Amino acid sequence: MNLSSFLKKPLAIGGKTIDSRLIMAPLSGIATVALREVADSFGGFGLYYAGMASANAVPTEKPEVSFVFRWRSQELPRLVCQIFGSNPSVMARAAARIEAEGFFGVDLNFGCAVSSITRNGAGAALLKDLSAARQVVTQVRKAVAIPLIIKFRTGWKDDPKKAQEMALRFEEWGADALIFHPRVAPDKRTRPPKWEHIACVKQAVTIPVFGNGNVFSRDDCARMISLTGCDGVALGRIAAARPFCAARWLAGREAAPADYSETVTMLCKSLTGHFGPPHDFSHLKKISPYFCANFLYGHGLDKKIRHAKGMDEACRIFEDFFLDDPPINELPNPHLFN
Ligand SMILES: Cc1cc2nc3c(=O)[nH]c(=O)nc-3n(C[C@H](O)[C@H](O)[C@H](O)COP(=O)(O)O)c2cc1C
Repeated sequence: MNLSSFLKKPLAIGGKTIDSRLIMAPLSGIATVALREVADSFGGFGLYYAGMASANAVPTEKPEVSFVFRWRSQELPRLVCQIFGSNPSVMARAAARIEAEGFFGVDLNFGCAVSSITRNGAGAALLKDLSAARQVVTQVRKAVAIPLIIKFRTGWKDDPKKAQEMALRFEEWGADALIFHPRVAPDKRTRPPKWEHIACVKQAVTIPVFGNGNVFSRDDCARMISLTGCDGVALGRIAAARPFCAARWLAGREAAPADYSETVTMLCKSLTGHFGPPHDFSHLKKISPYFCANFLYGHGLDKKIRHAKGMDEACRIFEDFFLDDPPINELPNPHLFN
């Protein structure tokens, strides 16, 4: 398989089309408008995700003050907003606002297993309750015409049949695409995802399926596609570490050392532009472990960033770091993030 040609093949999702099959997975607190701006300056992602938003909050959210519900107008045609919640009419109202704002589509979170979300019956808890899941999906489907995507995990037991059954239901209830992360809900990414379960989900439905989980390189990406037959790949942590990765994989070439310094320079500028002090620096500290994981001495670099007094000092630390042509890891060091 020629990976670049496959990834560049347009893909229809609902009534719309994306021009790259590499998409950025939702990354709460990390893939802010600033990180997306940096990634978009390199290009390559067919879709981006705005931060996971509470369906309760979406109808009244103010993009000028919200860190989550904020975007650049030019990214809306490729931007999906993910919502979580369990009340079907609340979810439907949130989806209607998302459609009215002009987003590419709406995504329903069926994967988050943190207790603050699941104890209210939302996220992965919906995978346990078919009737609640059906109501949420069908009411959102009725409320909007834009593409409806569902991101989900295997379920609460490591049984691909359950995931297949959910996928079938999602399609029946009106979903236009699925992002499938083949891990059981409580797994905090300690065990490898079971890519073979993506193949089971793909076989069960006719709508596009994006595979997700532990794709860190072009080779991983090619292997996931050939092993599972998935229609596209959703990149999570590697997109935070290397926002240029989609552009480089599509072009079929390795990243250049300059990509790294450009990334961090743009990121600092973009964080300040969108959030201003002190929030720019707090966001930088959240992304820092992902970016620093690229370097042989990334641990020390991340420590310095976390101890800096603010954005100006952090930018100087990065500038100094790049003066010495720092050795770059072939893959980001997973010990810096999880
Ligand atoms: C910091 C962080 C935040 C995340 N936030 C979300 C989220 O808001 N919604 C969601 O569905 N998944 C979220 N995820 C899960 C990712 O989308 C993805 O499924 C997971 O990281 C596996 O993909 P990867 O191996 O490419 O990182 C998050 C993951 C991380 C590391």
